[in-house]
Amino acid sequence: MAKSKLPDELMFLENRRAIQKTTTASMAGKVCVVSGSTSGVGLEAVRRLARGSANIVMVGRNPEKAEKIRKELVEQYHIPVAIVIADFSNLESVRKAADILLKDCPRIDVLINSVGLHSTTRTITKDGFESVFCVNHLGPFLLTSLLIERMRQSAPSRIIQVNSEGHRFGGLNVNDLNWEHRRYTGLQGYGASKTAQLLTVWEFADRLQGSGVTINAMHPGDVKTNIGNNNGPLYRWFLHHVTWHLLKDPVISGEALYYLAAAPEMAEVSSRFFHLTIDEKPAAPALNRETGRRVWDMSRQLTRLKSDP
Ligand SMILES: NC(=O)c1ccc[n+]([C@@H]2O[C@H](COP(=O)([O-])OP(=O)(O)OC[C@H]3O[C@@H](n4cnc5c(N)ncnc54)[C@H](OP(=O)(O)O)[C@@H]3O)[C@@H](O)[C@H]2O)c1
Repeated sequence: MAKSKLPDELMFLENRRAIQKTTTASMAGKVCVVSGSTSGVGLEAVRRLARGSANIVMVGRNPEKAEKIRKELVEQYHIPVAIVIADFSNLESVRKAADILLKDCPRIDVLINSVGLHSTTRTITKDGFESVFCVNHLGPFLLTSLLIERMRQSAPSRIIQVNSEGHRFGGLNVNDLNWEHRRYTGLQGYGASKTAQLLTVWEFADRLQGSGVTINAMHPGDVKTNIGNNNGPLYRWFLHHVTWHLLKDPVISGEALYYLAAAPEMAEVSSRFFHLTIDEKPAAPALNRETGRRVWDMSRQLTRLKSDP
């Protein structure tokens, strides 16, 4: 194949058109915990995992929505599906969910964090965090940290953080994680949260070396989901009348997540960023390990983690 002429920063343009990898490997008997599984990318991931015969644990904030999906999966695939309730804008709620997961799941083979939020306005959680930063980064960081020992005990096991090409929007200012001293914009806030998450993926991976637990991040494609529907009428009009036509079916996201979770050739691959299933170099701010160590320490402090995961 001819070598691409595009610079690393633009490779996502090529990767979004590339033929993606798939696997027919079975996930029978594997316990897969998926946050954000009541909609969009996470929903397609649990559907695909169920088709691969996995045991599913859905982590979501809306019990009615989750119950409807649980029924659909059980009726169609005859696999065990459990629901654990967690609001990722409330770290106490994430802690409670982790306690339940540790009590109810003697093993966890796969953890996928697909929970996510995009907001054009700056809002603050009850704990005082900028909401997008909390839902996209602090909440999944806390859940991953609290489950990591169980993942070690369950090795070989895999963690996948659903990240975004949006991490390329503007980097991260570690001196103003809460956007108190700058004008907040939706794209930059979203990009900062995803940059923070990527930086901690490399930190997790270092700590997991030799444990049999892998951790990777991925961009789930540009797909038709509910993300952004919490924003104002103008944003929603633009999303559904303009952007919508450029977006794909989120089935591709579920298929890519299944590949990353199940493919035998992914068993030892860790600390990478994938555009769907294609290994891709993230933007420079997401590769700055010095910033990464600061973000790691700050994330630990903000989530009140007692010990280093
Ligand atoms: N769609 C894309 O093209 C795209 C592109 C790049 C990256 N992503 C990433 O993909 C992931 C999934 O997003 P999506 O596109 O599938 O959007 P989505 O359809 O809105 O799904 C988001 C999921 O996160 C859950 N969620 C949101 N806030 C929550 C909270 N406070 N507590 C608990 N759960 C919460 C939602 O729950 P409810 O069902 O209760 O609302 C839903 O299950 C996100 O990380 C997003 O950044 C998506």
